[in-house]
Amino acid sequence: MLLSKNEILIWLKNWIRYPLVLGAVLPTQRFASNIMASEISSKISTVVELGAGTGQITKSILDKKLKHENLFLVEVNKEFSEILKRKFPNANIYNEDAISFLDKFQTRFGKKIDIIVSGIPLVSLDKNTREKICELSVENLSENGKFFQITYFIRCSFPMSIIKKFGLSKRLQGFTPLNIPPAFIWKIYK
Ligand SMILES: C[S@@+](CC[C@H](N)C(=O)[O-])C[C@H]1O[C@@H](n2cnc3c(N)ncnc32)[C@H](O)[C@@H]1O
Repeated sequence: MLLSKNEILIWLKNWIRYPLVLGAVLPTQRFASNIMASEISSKISTVVELGAGTGQITKSILDKKLKHENLFLVEVNKEFSEILKRKFPNANIYNEDAISFLDKFQTRFGKKIDIIVSGIPLVSLDKNTREKICELSVENLSENGKFFQITYFIRCSFPMSIIKKFGLSKRLQGFTPLNIPPAFIWKIYK
């Protein structure tokens, strides 16, 4: 999906203001977005995208024919959430912090999540926040649930402590140099 000039300006303005929250100088580009969405299909019933930004990965997710109503987009930035609402009027969009969203997920929706796709820059968060987001994510995953995380370092940013605690596995799902910055996509699964 091409970004409009206006969206790029909004992104850059927010990147200057909140560099650690955004974590990347530009939204994710197509090759990396497609790896993030590689295991999505029309048969999946619940997908949550954490840190959906301006919807680059969202577009790849919906290209895999996932029903819009089965997709939950979580984005802490209000301006980005407004862009998401305009682009994906039929998706469930929450202008909320990932921790509060995940904490309430099962009471709110009465179900588990099959796939979580995360663009949240885990490496720039403090240890407690990073661990809380990842722990709540795992607690909300269904029996065969999977968590995909984009990062710009080879090292998996999903905390080892949570992988050990829940007996999870991890694998490098893909890497692309055709992203600014070059991106690694990790899969964490039960
Ligand atoms: C690297 S950007 C990725 C945006 C988009 N997914 C993409 O790939 O272009 C990270 C996004 O996560 C959002 N974010 C960071 N911390 C968050 C949190 N705790 N809860 C929800 N969103 C968060 C930021 O506002 C930003 O939009």
